Amino acid sequence: MPTKTEKVISGFYDGIFHFYEAANIFLTFGLIRLWRNRAARIALKHNPALCLDLCCGTGDFTILLDKLSINKTKIIGLDLNSSMLAKASKRTNLSFILGSAREIPFKGNHFDLVTISFASRNINIDRDFFIAALKEIKRVLKPGGVFINLETSHPENAFIHKIFLAYTKTIIYILRLFSPKNAKAYLFLSNSIASFYNAKELSEILLEAGFKKPEFTYLFFGAAAIHKTTK
Ligand SMILES: C[S@@+](CC[C@H](N)C(=O)[O-])C[C@H]1O[C@@H](n2cnc3c(N)ncnc32)[C@H](O)[C@@H]1O
Repeated sequence: MPTKTEKVISGFYDGIFHFYEAANIFLTFGLIRLWRNRAARIALKHNPALCLDLCCGTGDFTILLDKLSINKTKIIGLDLNSSMLAKASKRTNLSFILGSAREIPFKGNHFDLVTISFASRNINIDRDFFIAALKEIKRVLKPGGVFINLETSHPENAFIHKIFLAYTKTIIYILRLFSPKNAKAYLFLSNSIASFYNAKELSEILLEAGFKKPEFTYLFFGAAAIHKTTK
């Protein structure tokens, strides 16, 4: 059963699922398309037969993985928000499942690849919960299976970092003005970006959860990062 906090966080998307993709493009000046593309190509490098796209939302990354997979990887999306999933299902024939990242409804050693794009902040309810969710990802991966995490990060250069955080705050303030009833969702976005781990800390957490040899690639001066690690 998902916890109350999981439901509150995934519930934020009930108010914004109509314009979720457009908001992402607006927030990142379209860079999100390039970032997803890069992450999907890294994820598909080892020709996975079966992939789980966790916290798949409206399916942007799930659909891209399917489009870019040469050997037709079977891809399943999972998310806790039924409105986001309903929208995903309207866009493609891929399979989508309602569920929590903390209790993935699949047997152990099942997937060749698990991906999360821009959702780790959502399951970082606290450090312990996040590590438990990462262990759950590891459980459903086959030995040697790959986990790819695409998420906002923190530029290493202190000046660029300050600009990045100021930009995030300002743009989210503007979004709140246009859509005040979703203020809590935008506040969550802003706060979770600022408080999420930097790329090195995230690598340490992946090791703590039992993953092997985490590597990361910065995107746009460290505004985002792709982590790749194996079971
Ligand atoms: C920012 S969206 C990312 C969606 C998609 N991965 C993308 O790249 O566009 C975060 C998603 O995580 C989902 N989510 C939040 N908490 C979750 C949880 N505990 N289990 C499963 N999904 C969750 C939300 O419902 C939402 O669809």
